[in-house]
Amino acid sequence: MRSLTAFSVICCLIFALSCSGTKEPQPTYTISEAPVNPNGDSELALLMREMFEDAERMKEEIKAGKTPKVLKTFEEIYSAKATEAEKAESPIYHSYAQTYLASLNALKNADSAQAAALFHDMVNNCMSCHKAMCPGPTVRIQKLYLTQN
Ligand code: HEC
Repeated sequence: MRSLTAFSVICCLIFALSCSGTKEPQPTYTISEAPVNPNGDSELALLMREMFEDAERMKEEIKAGKTPKVLKTFEEIYSAKATEAEKAESPIYHSYAQTYLASLNALKNADSAQAAALFHDMVNNCMSCHKAMCPGPTVRIQKLYLTQN
């Protein structure tokens, strides 16, 4: 049994060595920038994902005819570190963040008649900042509108 294990270890080693010894062309690029945290996701990216999921939940509540509950106010949007730190430190970012938080707070106090319109405003504010600073996720954010499936 032991010799079988030793045999397979040796086989694996030979296999591994032979792989690294192949004459595949090596990539010429190097990865120079270390990720902000070990997962490669910035604090802000993780926060944004949470904001997205929370907005999806509120959308479903509105579609079900309920008044959406605002469970979190995402004040960390001001302090969370972004992949490109300077982006989230600029005055323009701060002002978009403020407008977004104001619309989230308005939704907090909404009654069922206002909820859909105030939710729409909030998604508009996600969009405004993204169009100005980070256009990539706009395709996903678009799906938060109540008129989209
Ligand atoms: C004040 C500007 C601003 C506002 C408002 C804003 N975002 Fe973002 N968002 C960003 C920036 C900047 C990033 C890039 C984060 C990074 O990579 O560090 C981002 C990233 C994202 C991402 C990608 C996260 C990932 O997986 O990498 C999603 C999705 C997202 N935002 C959704 C939203 C939603 C939904 C809202 C509204 C509820 C919103 N954002 C409001 C600036 C904003």
